Amino acid sequence: MELVIVAVAAYLIGSVSFAVIVSAVMGLADPRSYGSGNPGATNVLRTGNKKAAVLTLIGDAFKGWLAVWLAAHLGPRYGLDDTAVAVAALAVFLGHLYPVFFKFKGGKGVATAAGVLLAINPVLGLATVATWLIIAFFFRYSSLAALVSAVFAPLFDIFMFGPNTVAWAIFAMSALLVWRHRGNISKLIAGKEGRIGEKKTDAA
Ligand code: G3P
Repeated sequence: MELVIVAVAAYLIGSVSFAVIVSAVMGLADPRSYGSGNPGATNVLRTGNKKAAVLTLIGDAFKGWLAVWLAAHLGPRYGLDDTAVAVAALAVFLGHLYPVFFKFKGGKGVATAAGVLLAINPVLGLATVATWLIIAFFFRYSSLAALVSAVFAPLFDIFMFGPNTVAWAIFAMSALLVWRHRGNISKLIAGKEGRIGEKKTDAA
């Protein structure tokens, strides 16, 4: 029963889409109506408003961090172990992808996954974020950086900690993240993916 409560609470936290909320509060267009149509920091950046993009990034990462941090710190008081952390990690991520507050049409999970990984272990999170930064710096594709990071995150986890309870959640997050980027993968292969910061007005 406790794990169900953890899952529901984390899912609800994940369902708060900061791209939509920040854009509305700052008087910007709904990110689902332009660019890639994705409610995420990369797409918000296509408005040219860096502050809104950074706030979206921080908000989406923070909710991932918060859900896992709560499970890790409150769970033991209720007899829960790392299974609760794994459940919270996957549930907050799923909340971002399929938010109950936004007709189940959410983002691709990159910032939220970063927050989740940072809460699971800061070194694991920083290694994954560093991977994203390196690929983004050299190739200027946010999606490519996310895909490479998604491949490396479970490998970093296993390499650092060996087989562990949370690993399956990280594997699942990575698989879902790659699945959510299938449109980006097609565009990357076709050479039609937009570079970071490129402005777009159409939702495609
Ligand atoms: O954070 C999502 C990013 O990897 C791709 O976003 O808007 O280019 O599809 P977008």
